[in-house]
Amino acid sequence: MARGSNSKVDLIKSVPLFEHCSKSELAKIAQSADEMDLREGKVLIREGERGREFFVIASGNVEVTRMGKPVATLGPGDFIGEMALLSNIPRSATVTALTPLDVLVITDRGFKGLLDRMPSLWPKLAKALAERIARDENSSA
Ligand code: CMP
Repeated sequence: MARGSNSKVDLIKSVPLFEHCSKSELAKIAQSADEMDLREGKVLIREGERGREFFVIASGNVEVTRMGKPVATLGPGDFIGEMALLSNIPRSATVTALTPLDVLVITDRGFKGLLDRMPSLWPKLAKALAERIARDENSSA
């Protein structure tokens, strides 16, 4: 469903990653983000591929699998795709829509631009990364 720019900003404001952003930062994020509806079963990210996008889930759920094994289910407010963009390593997992999805998609370049301009995003990204790496280590043990 396409939204007007105000409701896109409202949606972005409701995402925990962006909750401390100022009005002008929210407007910048809205400029960098495309909203997309995806069908159930759609593969958003494939393990081993090169990363080009960062996703924020507005509604619906996804399953994260590594080597075919489920490692997490994520839903509204969660983000995916940060690992490959931050590190230039291949995608660490496959991410598949478990339900119809409404997502915000930000390109690699847009994501890096936001991180440069908004250092307030780093602590939340770092926390999620630490938790995810710990979980991925356990799942491959
Ligand atoms: P990336 O490696 O770019 O692509 C796959 C994504 O799945 C990864 O970024 C994270 O966003 C996400 N991911 C990987 N492992 C986990 C995990 N254990 N829990 C939640 N999300 C994960």
